[in-house]
Amino acid sequence: MTPYRQLIALFAAFRRQQFLLLSLILTETVLTVSIPFLIKHLIDKITESRGREAIFQLGLLIIAISLCAVVINVIQHYQWHKLRLMSIKHLRAMLFEAAMKKRAAFLKKNHSGDILTKIIDDGVIVAQHLSIGIPMLIANAFRLLIILVVMLFISPALTLVVLTVVPFYYILFNYLNKKLRETSKQERVGFSGILNAVQEILNGIDTIKLFNKESFFSSIFSQKLDGHFHFVKRNLFFNSIGTGATTFIITMLPVAILLTGSSFVLEHSLSLGGLIAFYSYLAYLYEPINNLSDYQMGVQTALGSSDRVFDFLHHDVEPEDGGAIHIDSIQSIEFRNVSFAYDSAAPALTNLSFAAVAGDKVAIVGRSGSGKTTLINLLMKVYDGYDGEIFINNIDIRQISRSSLYKRISLVEQNVFVFEGSVKENILFDNRLEDAEVEEILRVSQVK
Ligand SMILES: Nc1ncnc2c1ncn2[C@@H]1O[C@H](COP(=O)(O)OP(=O)(O)OP(=O)(O)O)[C@@H](O)[C@H]1O
Ligand SMILES: [Mg+2]
Repeated sequence: MTPYRQLIALFAAFRRQQFLLLSLILTETVLTVSIPFLIKHLIDKITESRGREAIFQLGLLIIAISLCAVVINVIQHYQWHKLRLMSIKHLRAMLFEAAMKKRAAFLKKNHSGDILTKIIDDGVIVAQHLSIGIPMLIANAFRLLIILVVMLFISPALTLVVLTVVPFYYILFNYLNKKLRETSKQERVGFSGILNAVQEILNGIDTIKLFNKESFFSSIFSQKLDGHFHFVKRNLFFNSIGTGATTFIITMLPVAILLTGSSFVLEHSLSLGGLIAFYSYLAYLYEPINNLSDYQMGVQTALGSSDRVFDFLHHDVEPEDGGAIHIDSIQSIEFRNVSFAYDSAAPALTNLSFAAVAGDKVAIVGRSGSGKTTLINLLMKVYDGYDGEIFINNIDIRQISRSSLYKRISLVEQNVFVFEGSVKENILFDNRLEDAEVEEILRVSQVK
């Protein structure tokens, strides 16, 4: 199965809503498309000077159908957006969960701005497309088909005029779509660069102020904005050409139809009602054509993002708990000939061996970059691509479950993680402790 298909499968829960939406749209289409046809009959009745009674009845029917179409349109509009928003929520939750399950090494290596863009932005694009894209495609293809059939029924010759435009339209949009796909990918990359920069610069704002380097970092940020804007502009350019082509057709086609059609009316091969109905159907044509080309463009953007989303959902996932053996205490720690390199070129640790047993107090001292943090990261199973062996209680840590290891190790890092909430919540997370125990924690850690 391609990644794209696998992503569609993630939205299986929304099938029922998709089906409901599709039924609503199809019903609305049948109702609205019937209106110009009925108007044709109304005008034909007027030009043929039929009785008021018949004209009045037909008028009432048109009003009733229009009212039904409006009601269904409102429901459809609501359902459409509800489905869109629900699926965005669904995918964002999945992406966030995937982020939590990533290997720590992955999270350390990837910029959080990039991850943020994936969860917030790519999630929206892909979710919208996957949830409403397919119903939209079917609905518009159906709408287009039914309108063309009715047009053919009214006047095959005029329909032919309409159909000559289609190939040009198709070739142009194919070209634009390709361009759009390229630029929107680059635009996404630029956007995550902006998020990264904001985060990085704000993190270091105290230092930046201390050294009076605000304008230096402002200019770095401006460069990021410029780089991103370049692709936004290109994207806009191709979009505008697309809109321009559509507008040209929307303006020219009715004139062509009126001119050609009027000669048919004069020759009595088409009734006046027929020409007016055909003319009205032209207006019905643009919406599905526009929607379909929107869909085409949407597919391109969504495909660009869906690779990113799919990779994010499925790659670098932490192996479940990373080992089967549970430990309830740490009696000994031993590094035996451990070597490790982040990038293959420069090793961070070379042939490190040492041992410590319960009760020992060990200080690891070394100049900056000598590998102290790396050592701790290996002990914490953050990276597993090292040579040699690390033992706890004479068990290779590769076989020890991560959660049992973390229960036995306290790690105080330079950067503390404080989340939005009370101090108590920051201490407890979802653990349940008596107030006296919390008091004791506060006392020991000198928070109080
Ligand atoms: N995520 C990383 N990617 C690539 N190289 C890294 C990474 N983290 C550390 N290094 C490199 O590995 C080596 C050891 O770094 P480490 O952070 O373990 O040193 P340290 O002893 O903790 O230094 P400090 O006293 O400054 O905290 C250094 O050369 C460092 O540049
Ligand atoms: Mg360090």
